[in-house]
Amino acid sequence: MSLAIVGAGRVGRALGKLLRDRGWRIAAVVTCSSATARAAVRAIGAGKPFAHLTPEILSADVILLTTPDSAIAATAAKLAQVTRGIPPRPGVVGATRLALSPAEGRVARSEWGGRIVLHTSGALDSCVLAPLTRLGAAVGSLHPLQTFGARSIPSLRGVLFTLEGDPRAARVARRIARQLGGIPIEIPARAKPAYHAAGAFAAAHMLSLIEGGTQMLVKLGFPKKQAQRGLLRMARQMLSNLETLGPRASWSGPVSRGDFSTVEKHMVALAPFATEFSRAHAAMLLLSARVLAADNGATLRRLKRMLKD
Ligand SMILES: NC(=O)c1ccc[n+]([C@@H]2O[C@H](COP(=O)([O-])OP(=O)(O)OC[C@H]3O[C@@H](n4cnc5c(N)ncnc54)[C@H](OP(=O)(O)O)[C@@H]3O)[C@@H](O)[C@H]2O)c1
Repeated sequence: MSLAIVGAGRVGRALGKLLRDRGWRIAAVVTCSSATARAAVRAIGAGKPFAHLTPEILSADVILLTTPDSAIAATAAKLAQVTRGIPPRPGVVGATRLALSPAEGRVARSEWGGRIVLHTSGALDSCVLAPLTRLGAAVGSLHPLQTFGARSIPSLRGVLFTLEGDPRAARVARRIARQLGGIPIEIPARAKPAYHAAGAFAAAHMLSLIEGGTQMLVKLGFPKKQAQRGLLRMARQMLSNLETLGPRASWSGPVSRGDFSTVEKHMVALAPFATEFSRAHAAMLLLSARVLAADNGATLRRLKRMLKD
């Protein structure tokens, strides 16, 4: 199958490269500048670079939209005005142009009908691609539950890929997930923002907590490397316990032992730090009581009184 990529940053390049390695033909690769488009093609190892939306996108079976979330709706609206059958008006390829005439609309529908368009946002569902649905495209979303950096391409083996959308788009999304060694899982469109927030709990919040702890230790005089290594080691052990023993048996720290006097000491000790530290600590204590304590809310109530929540 062939793939066009619109917005080839971290995710677009990674998926492009991995799919190319699995035999997909890479067609147009679109970014915001010629330099980034050429760099994306080099990273993927195939494709034709473009710094604007181009009718060549329509030569692909599947169009992958991997722009930032904030650009997906506008990009879909602009894509709906890209057709091979209508010559672009000067200077407006990739820019908003006037609505298509009825005849142009017919051409656009004949070119977009049956085309598969997927975006990779975790929080948005496929409704954001409505302008393309109206032209007959089968739209969906496919989100790898994985973080992607700018420097390297992570393996997607074993990664959950959540998907939703038109059944034809969902079928292709499932196939992509499986080809990449991932585990496809369907999600109702309305659940996407909460699903995405759950991912933030496990990854983005974990990063902020470990970096926050590191900065506290540095302020107390620890060398930064040692502080980070020490906390990372403890975090890894906790994650390993969680995998092997389960959440309750892995729960440690004063609240797990009912040691509320230590909690009070923590709150006093955090006072000199920026307020976000004590607020985050209090919020995490309450969350741990909510999700880990098996005492019908007794720990949670006591903490709420203590923390005046
Ligand atoms: N990063 C992650 O860990 C991750 C994980 C799962 C899903 N996602 C989702 O995947 C999508 C892409 O994220 P990303 O991290 O890969 O983003 P990114 O690295 O910032 O790349 C975005 C790409 O889109 C292009 N772009 C930016 N604004 C655009 C616009 N207005 N019109 C057209 N193209 C535009 C950029 O062009 P230039 O290269 O020229 O700047 C770049 O190639 C998002 O929906 C995100 O939520 C991200």
